[in-house]
Amino acid sequence: MKTLLALVLAVFAPLALAAGAGPKLEASHTNIEDTASLQRGARLFVNYCMGCHSLGYLRYSRMAEDLGLSEEQVMQNLNFTGAKFGERMVSAMDPADATAWIGAAAPDLTLTARAKLGGPDWVYTYLKSFYADESRPLGWNNTVLPGASMPNPLWEMQGIQRAVYAGEGGQIDRLEVATPGSLSPEQFDQVARDITAFLQYAAEPSRLQRESVGVWVILFLAFFTLMAWLLKQEYWRDVH
Ligand code: HEC
Repeated sequence: MKTLLALVLAVFAPLALAAGAGPKLEASHTNIEDTASLQRGARLFVNYCMGCHSLGYLRYSRMAEDLGLSEEQVMQNLNFTGAKFGERMVSAMDPADATAWIGAAAPDLTLTARAKLGGPDWVYTYLKSFYADESRPLGWNNTVLPGASMPNPLWEMQGIQRAVYAGEGGQIDRLEVATPGSLSPEQFDQVARDITAFLQYAAEPSRLQRESVGVWVILFLAFFTLMAWLLKQEYWRDVH
C-alpha cells in the first residue's frame, strides 16, 4: 500500500508542480463539434488575427470541407490575402515587418492550442487577460504571458481592462474592465471561446473525422460481439 502511494506521488507530484507554476487558467468550455462556433471562430480569426498570424499547416480548402462551407463562402468571406483555395492560410504580414513594428514576429498558431500547457484553456485565458500598461511599448500587457509583444486585438469588443493590485506594490490580484467595450462580458467570453475552438480544430483537423469514425467502430464492435455470442451458442448446442 505504502509503495503504491509513493508511486502515485512520484508520478503525479511533478505534474501538480508543473500545473501550479503557470498562470491560473480559466476553463474554455469549447466544443469542436459545434460547427457554428467553429465558423464564427474562423471569421473572427481571419478578421482579427490573420493580419499578424498564420495557420501555415491548414489549407483554405480543408477548412471549407471540415466546417461545411462552400469554396465561394470561404473565398469571399474568409480569405483576404489573395491566396488560392488550395493554399495554406498564411498571413500577408512579412515577419521582418512585424518585428520592426511590434517588436516580435507573430508565431504560427496552427499547433498552439495543442502545444501550450493547458491547451485551449491557455489560449482562452490569454485572449481574456490583456490589460492597459503604460510601461509597455504598445501600451498592453497580459497576465498569462507577461511582457507579451502582442497588443490586444479584441479590445473594441472586450473594452480596456486595468490591473487591480493586491496591496501597495503587490502582485496583480485581478483584472477589471475600466472602459467598457461593445460586448457584454458573457458575449466576449463567447468570442474568445469561438476563436479558441477554431484554433483547437486547426491544431488537429482529423479529430473531427476521428470522432465520427469512432462511433462506427464502437457499433461494429457491438455487432461483432453479438455475432460471436450467437456463434458460440450454435457450437455449444452440438456439444451439449
Ligand atoms: C498586431 C499583430 C498581432 C495580432 C493582430 C494578433 N497577434 Fe497574437 N501575437 C502577436 C505577437 C507579436 C506575438 C508574440 C508575443 C510574444 O511572444 O511576446 C503573439 C502571440 C500570440 C499567442 C501566443 C503564441 C505562443 O506560442 O506563445 C497567441 C495564442 C496569439 N498570439 C493569438 C492571437 C489571436 C487569437 C489573435 C486574434 C484574435 C491574435 N493573436 C492577433 C501579434 C499579433
